[in-house]
Amino acid sequence: MSTPTASNVAIGIDIGGTGIKGAIVDLDSGELLSDRVKLSTPEGGKPKDIVGTVTKILEKLTDAPDDAPIGICFPAVVRNGRTMSAANVSKKWIGLEAEKLFEDALGRDIFFVNDADAAGYAEVRFGAARDRSGLVMMTTLGTGIGTAIIYNGVLVPNAELGHLQIDGGDYELKAAYSAKEREDLSWSKWTERLQKYYSELEKLLSPDLFIVGGGVSKNYQEFLPLLNLTTEIVPAVLRNNAGILGAAALASQPRVVAGTEESPQEHPAAAL
Ligand code: BGC
Repeated sequence: MSTPTASNVAIGIDIGGTGIKGAIVDLDSGELLSDRVKLSTPEGGKPKDIVGTVTKILEKLTDAPDDAPIGICFPAVVRNGRTMSAANVSKKWIGLEAEKLFEDALGRDIFFVNDADAAGYAEVRFGAARDRSGLVMMTTLGTGIGTAIIYNGVLVPNAELGHLQIDGGDYELKAAYSAKEREDLSWSKWTERLQKYYSELEKLLSPDLFIVGGGVSKNYQEFLPLLNLTTEIVPAVLRNNAGILGAAALASQPRVVAGTEESPQEHPAAAL
C-alpha cells in the first residue's frame, strides 16, 4: 500500500438510525486505511447529539492528514447542505442547515450527502459498477429503500425513488427489508413485491444496471435469481463500507454531483 498523502485520502462518516461509523479512506484503491470506528446513534437522533457523536469518531481517526476532506452521509434528502427530510432520526433535522451545523462544530469544511447517494457513488467508483457507463441505479433495501442514480459517473442526487406510489401507497413500506421482517414474509412472497418495485423502476428509467445493497444483499441468492427483469441486477459488493467510501470520495470530488459547480468530471465513464 502506498503512503497516504492528503490528495488521495479522505474521511467518510456514515450516519444511520442505529449506528454512526467512520474511517479513513484510500481514494485510489477504495480501501480503508484505518479501523472502522462505530458508535451508537444517540437516542432520539437529535442534531446536537449526532454532531457530538461524529466529533468523537473524528477524534479517534488520529492518523488522517489534517487537511483530509470529510464526507458525511445521512438518511435524508440533502439540498445545498440542508436536510429536507429525516428517516429514522429526529424530525428536528427537517429544514436544518445540517452541513453548516457540522462545519461550525468541527471548525472545518465538510461535504454532506444522502446515504443512498453515497453508497451508490461508492459502488460506481470502487464496487459492483466500477467503470460501467450509462445509467446505474442503486437501491438499498433496509429499514427504508434508498435509491441513487448515477449517469456516466455523475450522481444525480436525491432520487428518493423508494417512495414510489404503487398500489396506492408508499412502496417503501411494502418492499423494504423491514417489511419482510415485520410481516414475516417468505423470500418468495417478498420477491413478488420486489418484482413489482423493480419493474416499475425499469419502466420509468430504463437503467443499464441495478445494484442491490443493504444488509440483506448478502443473501442475494435467495431473491435476485427469482426476479424477472430486462435490466441486469447485481448485488452490491462494498457492504457496510459503501456509505463511508462514497461520502469520502464525494468530499474529495464534489463536482461529480450534478448541480454542483463544474460538472462534467474525471470519471473514466464520463468520456464515453
Ligand atoms: C429516505 C432516504 C434514505 C433511505 C435509506 C428513505 O426512507 O427517504 O432519504 O436514503 O431511506 O436510508
